[in-house]
Amino acid sequence: MANKHRVLIARRVPPAVEFRALSEFDALVAGRDLDADEMLEAVASHAIQGVLTGPRVRITAAHAAAFPPSLRIIANPTAGFDHMDVAATRAAGVAVTNAPDALSDCTADLAMMLLLNACRRASESAAIMRDGWRRGIGFAENLGLKVSGRTLGIVGMGRIGRAMAARARGFGMRVLYHNRSRLPPELEQGAEYVPSLEALLPRAQILSLHLPGGEAGTLMTRDAFALLPPGAVFINTARGSLVDEDALIDALRSGHLFAAGLDVFRDEPAFDLRFNELPNVFLTPHCASATVETRDAMGFRALDNIAAVLSGQEALDPV
Ligand code: DGY
Repeated sequence: MANKHRVLIARRVPPAVEFRALSEFDALVAGRDLDADEMLEAVASHAIQGVLTGPRVRITAAHAAAFPPSLRIIANPTAGFDHMDVAATRAAGVAVTNAPDALSDCTADLAMMLLLNACRRASESAAIMRDGWRRGIGFAENLGLKVSGRTLGIVGMGRIGRAMAARARGFGMRVLYHNRSRLPPELEQGAEYVPSLEALLPRAQILSLHLPGGEAGTLMTRDAFALLPPGAVFINTARGSLVDEDALIDALRSGHLFAAGLDVFRDEPAFDLRFNELPNVFLTPHCASATVETRDAMGFRALDNIAAVLSGQEALDPV
């Protein structure tokens, strides 16, 4: 073990990721999701050099100030890193990485699943079947929205946004997007750039968020929801912090929004239970990246970043 780097696996990971960590590093595997204090204690008492971290490890500036000198990298196996103080961690001389591409396809798949389920009233149909479906459903009852031919507005046209656009094109949808800057035509693939959110919203029959939380703040305010056309559908697989949930619930109750498909919430896992009272929502528990292949790939990418930094190379995915 003497020449292997000391690494802490601070969250539960799939078996293949744990196996690789144990084979390549002198790895301490917590076997559960540590919080930041527990992580810090383990790092200090085992002279840990690299940490594969998780969203429970909410590193603050105070934690960063207490990092022991052995620590060189905090590797997020996720795309998001809004649960930690990145600036303070870097200021303490510790590299921070994420896994920006590993989950693009699966996140876009789940966003498309939410889109289809919201438009086609899947929650209500599933409830009818679970109740035993003993009453015929009328020709004009329980009608959803036709997806093909509709206009999808994407906010955030990074890797996940573009993967969502590709799926939407496959369903015959028209794609508009808003992003900090316009993409070159080979990445736009026919999507129309709309320079401001305010201009995009009234044109988006379906709106899907694909930008990081944190800096963007609460993008979907009461005013923003009001700008969507009546009968719009709202999809969020990005971050709950982007959304004023009171405003979203009011828009769903009033019928201004036809439906919503949500994988992320302001408070997780203690999400707002008022959502469960609404028939026109399709909800999933922040699981967009939860496939065998993607969770392995995310964990492997974090280990690749740890290996690079601890062997004196540049991080592959610095943030
Ligand atoms: C991410 O990578 O940020 C996801 O939300 C976690 O699954």
